[in-house]
Amino acid sequence: MCGIVGYVGQADRAGRDYVALDVVLEGLRRLEYRGYDSAGVALVHDSGVHWRKKAGKVAALEAEIAARPLPEAVVGIGHTRWATHGGPTDANAHPHVVAGGKLAVVHNGIIENFAELKADLMAKGFSFLSETDTEVAASVLADQLASAGDLTEAMRRTCMLLDGAFTLLAVHADFPERIVAARRNSPLVIGVGEDEYFLGSDVSGFIDYTKDAVEMDNDQIVTITPSGYQIIDFSGGVAEGKPFRVEWDAAAAEKGGFDSFMEKEIHDQPAAVRDTLMGRLDENGKLTLDELRIDESILRSIDKIIVIACGTAAYSGQVARYAIEHWCRIPTEVELAHEFRYRDPIVNEKTLVVAVSQSGETMDTLMAVRHAREQGAKVIAICNTHGATIPRESDAIIYTHAGPEIAVASTKAFLAQITASYLLGLYLAQLRGNMFADEVNRVLDELRAIPEKIAEVLAHEDQIKDLGTAMGETTSVLFLGRHVGYPVALEGALKLKEIAYIHAEGFAAGELKHGPIALVEEGQPVFIIVPSPRGRDSLHAKVVSNIQEVRARGAVTIVIAEEGDTAVEAYANHVIRIPQSPTLMQPLLATVPLQIFAAQVAKSKGYDVDQPRNLAKSVTVE
Ligand code: M6R
Repeated sequence: MCGIVGYVGQADRAGRDYVALDVVLEGLRRLEYRGYDSAGVALVHDSGVHWRKKAGKVAALEAEIAARPLPEAVVGIGHTRWATHGGPTDANAHPHVVAGGKLAVVHNGIIENFAELKADLMAKGFSFLSETDTEVAASVLADQLASAGDLTEAMRRTCMLLDGAFTLLAVHADFPERIVAARRNSPLVIGVGEDEYFLGSDVSGFIDYTKDAVEMDNDQIVTITPSGYQIIDFSGGVAEGKPFRVEWDAAAAEKGGFDSFMEKEIHDQPAAVRDTLMGRLDENGKLTLDELRIDESILRSIDKIIVIACGTAAYSGQVARYAIEHWCRIPTEVELAHEFRYRDPIVNEKTLVVAVSQSGETMDTLMAVRHAREQGAKVIAICNTHGATIPRESDAIIYTHAGPEIAVASTKAFLAQITASYLLGLYLAQLRGNMFADEVNRVLDELRAIPEKIAEVLAHEDQIKDLGTAMGETTSVLFLGRHVGYPVALEGALKLKEIAYIHAEGFAAGELKHGPIALVEEGQPVFIIVPSPRGRDSLHAKVVSNIQEVRARGAVTIVIAEEGDTAVEAYANHVIRIPQSPTLMQPLLATVPLQIFAAQVAKSKGYDVDQPRNLAKSVTVE
């Protein structure tokens, strides 16, 4: 939540045709998915600090700058906001400028003790223009600077006084060639160019300019100048960052000819699954997970798995539970991360916690990871963002290789998370002797066939889009599924809620008769995900009965079923076909039409598909 960007270049910019404002605005456009309630920039010029800020999206800020231009500068910071303290107004927009216009600060996170700090500052004669916790942090910094005399040291002293989560960036007219930035429980990455340095909430903040980046640890401060960067920890000791090279380029974060990032990311899914599967077999054809650094003996001894995650990532965990329990015979629970630690969960050295997060920065999931590790559990992160906080704080990592996911509604990350969780399940089953190598390889072959099958679903997207356009006026949609189809139903409902603002509910199809069927009346649209007729335990027949039950009560049934499954036709108003696949593989296919449907409904209603109201991509507050 909130996107932050910083840039320090050289006054002599031979060979470069951009200035700080270009870099900062480009970074904000790329980070806008993190929050879009307001945007602002501050530049350091010989004549002092100059800033503009505006409620609304980055485009509103650009219009403001066009109307009231800023001077050319080589040092700048910027911010795109997801409001926490104070509404989305111009006054609450960042940067917050204090010290008579000399000091500008942008912030991501929440300062929990801001009220107390504000009272102290007011007693000292400070006054405030906004309702934000950020302005309080800026004033604390100004206050500390008066005694410290140095911006970096003042930031260090300020951090010691702040409770909560924060990334703070500060520029000051008296220190014109530097940006000082601090992080605690909030993301910040350094970008390294040639005689120029960058800061970003993530690498997309500077991907247009460099692919060389440096990870920072928690509770560290970095000072960037045109000649380099220096990191210290909050106690003042010199620290080292961890350099890495970004694997994707700016084109991966473009719409690539689609109207929205979400549509592009839906179409990225064959590659997301394929790339997540790549390079996982050793020279003997045995499944290996390179980033898994937990002793094998520990993994053999675990007696419980708990998947912790939020939103779509949690639904991927619900899908994975069926596979992991089936393959490994280890009891597996899935828990929303924000509920996990508050229920005093039974976690010990024999518990394996799997933290699933696209961003790797979700605060609820991070706090659950910390809680689990404090109880002695080992934690494996399944994450799409290199060097993010959750993988850094976990015992092992399985990276999903979905590429950058920009749309707030998660699509390709979901499929990649299921793929990575399945790899983990197969790895554990192999390690613990629950599956022979040939059985593991058979499932891997099924997984390898998925990208092509997703492409087949995408090839028929027009049918789903027509349905989406026709159903634009619908006010309520139900989604039903059983077994792995149940979390798919939940995910389909979430997509429709978050981008089309339509009331939608996902149900386990068997639960319908215990209450929810009372909702069904003439014309009620109901999506039903039908398992393979070749599957086990008469699951297929049960779901076909559920279709009949809602149809008999007037529902309009939209059935997602395998090619060749003729049993559903008599009861379906619409049939959406997906390629045949084993039941456990079906979520990787059946989810895709639901994503296309939600995107099309949102589009046909004229909504912003990528940036739905009230939401942000990366939820870094609890
Ligand atoms: O970055 P994470 O995977 O940890 O994010 C978790 C949820 O916030 C996220 O999946 C959210 O539910 C999406 N907007 C759903 O589309």
